[in-house]
Amino acid sequence: SASFLEASNNGDQGFKPEEKKAPQIKRSDFPPGFLFGAATSAYQVEGAYLEDGKSLSNWDVFCHSKGCAENGENGDIADDHYNMFLEDIEAMSSLGLDSYRFSISWARILPRGRFGEVNPAGIMFYNKIIDNLILKGIEPFVTLNHNDLPQELEDRYGAWLNPEMQEDFLYLAEICFKSFGDRVKYWVTINEPNMFIDLAYEQGIFPPSHCSEPFGNCLNGNSDVEPLMAMHNMLLAHGRTAKLYHESFQPKQGGLIGLVVHCYMFEPLTDSELDREAAKRAFAFNVGWPLDPAIFGEYPEEMHKYLGSKLPTFSLEEKNFMKNSTDFIGINHYSAIYTKDCTDSSCSATGNRAIQGFAEKVAERDGVLIGERTGLEYLFVVPRGMEEIVNLIKSRYNNKPMFITENGYSSPDLQENRVSELVNDVKRVEFHTSYLAALAKSMREGANVRGYFVWSLLDSYEWLQGYNVRFGLYYVDRKTLTRIPKLSARWYKNFITNNSVIN
Ligand code: NOJ
Repeated sequence: SASFLEASNNGDQGFKPEEKKAPQIKRSDFPPGFLFGAATSAYQVEGAYLEDGKSLSNWDVFCHSKGCAENGENGDIADDHYNMFLEDIEAMSSLGLDSYRFSISWARILPRGRFGEVNPAGIMFYNKIIDNLILKGIEPFVTLNHNDLPQELEDRYGAWLNPEMQEDFLYLAEICFKSFGDRVKYWVTINEPNMFIDLAYEQGIFPPSHCSEPFGNCLNGNSDVEPLMAMHNMLLAHGRTAKLYHESFQPKQGGLIGLVVHCYMFEPLTDSELDREAAKRAFAFNVGWPLDPAIFGEYPEEMHKYLGSKLPTFSLEEKNFMKNSTDFIGINHYSAIYTKDCTDSSCSATGNRAIQGFAEKVAERDGVLIGERTGLEYLFVVPRGMEEIVNLIKSRYNNKPMFITENGYSSPDLQENRVSELVNDVKRVEFHTSYLAALAKSMREGANVRGYFVWSLLDSYEWLQGYNVRFGLYYVDRKTLTRIPKLSARWYKNFITNNSVIN
């Protein structure tokens, strides 16, 4: 395996590894009942984009109109999980997963949102998934919205920019609670609202391709309050849904509902007061933006200070239902990033400076990368970030229950890699062991973390990069869709079943 390590070190110029050897970590370092799982999302794995009454989603339309991934790939077929789910559940079972996190395709259940009928085939599909998971002793962990929505809601009223979307989301949620809530005990309302808003309404590279300054090349150039409005509607949709669940379903069904947020660990670029403030602000504007309202019922102070009257406000009634609307915090953590003060407008920010909290993300310090590069240009391997972000979230939110709802690794230079190298994913094993060791450390210091999900079960469709960015424990052959367990799958199975030896 030494040759794999050498081979994959080629692209690492500028990165000086701090710790070469991954630390030892065992399942017994985590408390009993801690859930180990893997995650996917509907558009990334299901395919079957028009089967059995599903309508076009925003992603179907986006990918067909101008190409979403650079190489023209899309999620029409993806992993064909829609037809291969039994085999995939078999794979989960062979790994010994405690839980599987997946998302509901809104357009499959409600092809026309609340303006049309429920699609029984959609309900049946998720019933089959849930029942088969339970048969295998795997806990379903269900996300109601992971980037995709029926295109009709976009065309009719502008989807997340319109408060009407709250009604549509609530309608979807109620149908899901009624149909699946007898068996689903973990619900996520919305996946990564912060990342989604950044990409869809600031950078304009996710549908509906709206962007705000400083991007001059927007298809739909518009004002810088759109990201704030879209987030506000998402948060109210989350809050109303949680209220409905807490009042009408939780008493009988006894599950939990939460919000999942993309959480970078922001490190000050220098020791200067300004950069340290910038890192704090970046946390508030990225992580606090959705989480403060879902826990305290109010946007972070820093956002009020910098955005003033541009920031939407919650009415008293809304504050009341927003407060503690999340039973747990879902943390998607991949990377740390340096943060530089950007209040003096000298930064070359890749995002709306105001919405990013006048803090610029930077990958290098003195020519040295913050961590080893991965297949996505903005993600680096920085295991200590896991311990730090968990501690930060623990202290800001009074140690509310947390789940690591995503953590994963995609290797760089994939085009040149051969199948044998992709399957012999030593680097992914190192990644997960070192991040898990950092997580275990935060838990020894008292962090209330309840589970950990690998992103992802399968190599799947990555939103803007297509199929070359591979996060899976299972390799998926693009022509035959055959699934092959990688070394990481064998490692995870051994880890979960309490055996630290890879064989
Ligand atoms: C987080 C998103 O939830 C997921 O859809 C995506 O594939 C991973 N990050 C990797 O970019």
